[in-house]
Amino acid sequence: MSYSLEQLSTDFLIIGGGVAGLRAAIELARNGEVIVVTKDAPLESSTEYAQGGVAVVLSDEDEIEIHFEDTIRAGDGLCIRKSVGTLVEEGPMRIRELIAWGAEFDQEGSKLAFTQEAAHSKRRILHAHGDSTGKEILRVLTDKVRQAGRTTKIDFAFTRDLIIDLEGRCIGAVVVRQKEEKVLVIMARAVLLATGGAGRLFERTTNPPVATGDGIAMSWRAGAELMDLEFVQFHPTALYRHGTPSFLLSEAMRGEGGMLRNIHGLRFMDRYHPARELAPRDVVTRAIHAELLATGADHVFLDMTHLSPDYVRKRFPRIYSTCMSYGIDITAAPVPVSPAAHYTMGGVRTDLWGATTVPGLFAAGEAACTGVHGANRLASNSLLEGLVFGERAGLGAARYAARRERPLPPKRLLRALERRTEDVFTASDIDYIRQSLRKIMWEQVGIVRDKKGITNALKKLKEWDRMIKNPPLDRAALELKNMIQASLLIARSALSREGSVGAHCRGDFPAKGKDWKKRIIMKK
Ligand code: FAD
Ligand code: SIN
Repeated sequence: MSYSLEQLSTDFLIIGGGVAGLRAAIELARNGEVIVVTKDAPLESSTEYAQGGVAVVLSDEDEIEIHFEDTIRAGDGLCIRKSVGTLVEEGPMRIRELIAWGAEFDQEGSKLAFTQEAAHSKRRILHAHGDSTGKEILRVLTDKVRQAGRTTKIDFAFTRDLIIDLEGRCIGAVVVRQKEEKVLVIMARAVLLATGGAGRLFERTTNPPVATGDGIAMSWRAGAELMDLEFVQFHPTALYRHGTPSFLLSEAMRGEGGMLRNIHGLRFMDRYHPARELAPRDVVTRAIHAELLATGADHVFLDMTHLSPDYVRKRFPRIYSTCMSYGIDITAAPVPVSPAAHYTMGGVRTDLWGATTVPGLFAAGEAACTGVHGANRLASNSLLEGLVFGERAGLGAARYAARRERPLPPKRLLRALERRTEDVFTASDIDYIRQSLRKIMWEQVGIVRDKKGITNALKKLKEWDRMIKNPPLDRAALELKNMIQASLLIARSALSREGSVGAHCRGDFPAKGKDWKKRIIMKK
């Protein structure tokens, strides 16, 4: 296919249009022209599907210090305390501001309604339209970005690579618009990465198709440091049925009384943790994993049938109707569930202002790693992270750009794009490798890993990495290259940590190990 080359120039380029990217855009539009690129439809992102809610200290019975301690405890000792402090202290401000911009969180009478989620010692989770919190946040941010002006959104625009100048600064990105057969070279004074997570590297995941770890792979190729990649969060309760996606059944369902039962109908969480169904997420996931091994079953059940059907339908309308569309009535029978990859704690290493180790490159949201989640994210802290650190990364990028002119595209890059050669792959080759990769990552680098499995996975991943050197300008092929590189980085990090901490569980090293406080940092 012959692509035409187009050059664009802006003050700020944001890659990603979820909560983090849009929150940053609002800040950046005060400081110049902004382009936001997304690789799919405008709203397609994890944010759009976020259910349970957003954790924030706004109730009279709650305190910032308690939210801080809950986050640290869930993170199993590896949270960076300064990042947590920033999140919980600035969180209420970001949410009040969102409400002022029109966000409608659910209320009880005239007061905000707070739900319970695992490992929170207070009811502090705000939710919208029952279980559509992310959608509501995205609606409000999209409106606000529109009102702010100076922002151009380019959707269905796949960022292939960051552009790095001879001094090692990030000065733009190469973006592919496949349908239009165009390659955009977008030059910017600062670039902000908000590409979300990498759940799609695993066969079972709650994440939408956009979550393929592109940000991890492209920032690694650009020379940025990545941190904590061994910590992948597996959500305990995703729908389990052949031929049906592993649709998330929110933790809030357990917060409102949902019970876990094994295949024999017995509750089992009391054998694993005193908080039972509301133990930290990694604990519940491993308990289910152990229960599956013990019973030989492939799922357990989430039971809501003791709750009033009217209440369940009203409190979880999106979950209820989605399950009904699969022929499952969650009010009438226990729902088959099992764990699925859900959240990437690690990512591009940043400071508290979103600065990565590459000058000119900023990151926020799930793609970034401030260390705020440690080894296991506390439920509903991620939307808050997108708001708090999205704003901060915007401010950080604006400060950086104030000292810089708009750059020109390097001639060597334009020449290389014109003379580009491509590997030849059929769509079925790509699809086959993609499915195999997701299966290997799930089986060998999943909930419980060990040296043998990770080494096997690495061998295969390296083979694919060698095979796909110059992917064609096609989303599936470019994504596959990113999936391979992001998987390699996750697997290498998982191999390096010879101990079990938070969501990283090594079958061959069940204890934390003596150097467990170390951080694993990857750099090209
Ligand atoms: P996303 O919202 O995922 O946005 C990523 C953006 O990057 C998209 O616009 C995408 O198109 C773009 N992109 C990616 N790669 C490229 C590329 N190569 N080129 C161009 N664009 C690209 N967290 C909570 O706190 N509370 C919850 O209740 C909750 N529920 C969840 C439910 C589900 C089903 C899922 C999957 C996650 C949930 N989470 C929840 C986690 C939370 O939703 C995410 O961590 C958060 O929304 C991530 O926001 P983000 O802005 O970093 O990325
Ligand atoms: C959920 O609703 O269970 C997801 C919450 C989260 O990931 O924080």
